[in-house]
Formats: sequence, structure tokens, C-alpha cells
Amino acid sequence: MTDQELVAQAIAMQEFSYVPYSKFPVGAALLCADGTVFTGCNVENSAYGSTICAERTALLKAVSEGRRSGWTAIAIAGQGEDYCWPCGACRQMLYEFAPDLRVLAARRDGAFQTATLSQLLPHGFGPASLNMGRDT
Ligand code: THU
Repeated sequence: MTDQELVAQAIAMQEFSYVPYSKFPVGAALLCADGTVFTGCNVENSAYGSTICAERTALLKAVSEGRRSGWTAIAIAGQGEDYCWPCGACRQMLYEFAPDLRVLAARRDGAFQTATLSQLLPHGFGPASLNMGRDT
């Protein structure tokens, strides 16, 4: 799977976004090493704070299907003129399972930029922080 193909899957997921409040559809596609892709879209709520982002939808689908490891990349596609980088809450949630994940952030015209999650969330707090790096 090429980066371009993963981004295309994220773009396609915007169709399912539920965005009556922001009118800002976002799609995500999370790639695993074996080629499995978990997709997601943002799902908003009339209690605005209950909204879930596209990335976390994809993450929750993966974890709830038993896939907690082996994630290689996530593509995120928004409708803005700027690249759709993940919000802070999504960075933290992704960091828990894949601190070295590649992140592909796409904008409205389909162009995208890449970064690692560790670049987006330097000195992040994760499972290793709780047990001070030791296996417990
Ligand atoms: N959103 C995402 O789904 N992912 C992001 O990376 C940024 C923001 C959603 C949340 C909300 O439904 C809408 O975009 C506007 O913030």
C-alpha cells in the first residue's frame, strides 16, 4: 500500500462523516504491517464535547478488533486549505499504541505531508512513563 493509496482511503471516508455542526468532514485510514486498514470518520454530537475525531474512530476500531500493535501509518484527510494534522487528544491516544507511527496529513486538494507521531508529540507520556521503562 502506497502513502497515496492510504490517503485516498482517508479521503473516501469523509463521505461517512457526521458533521452537522462544523460541516468539516474528516476521514482517517490506519494501516497495519500486514496490510490491514482500519478506517474512520468524525462523528459529531449535539453535546459538542462528545464529538469524536476520525483518527480516534479508526483507533478504536483497531483496538476493539484486537489490533493493538503493528500499526505503521495513519492518513488523515480534511477539507481545509491547510494539512489536517491530528488534534492533541488524538496524538495522545495514538501515542499509547504507536509512538513511532507515521502520520500523513492531507488537505482539500489531496496533497499531503508526513511526520512521525514522536515529532508531533515530543516527550510524550505513554505506558513506558508509568512503569519508568521497566516491564511490570
Ligand atoms: N477533526 C477530526 O476528525 N480530526 C482532526 O484531526 C481535526 C478535527 C474533527 C472534529 C470535528 O468534528 C471537526 O473536525 C471540526 O473540528
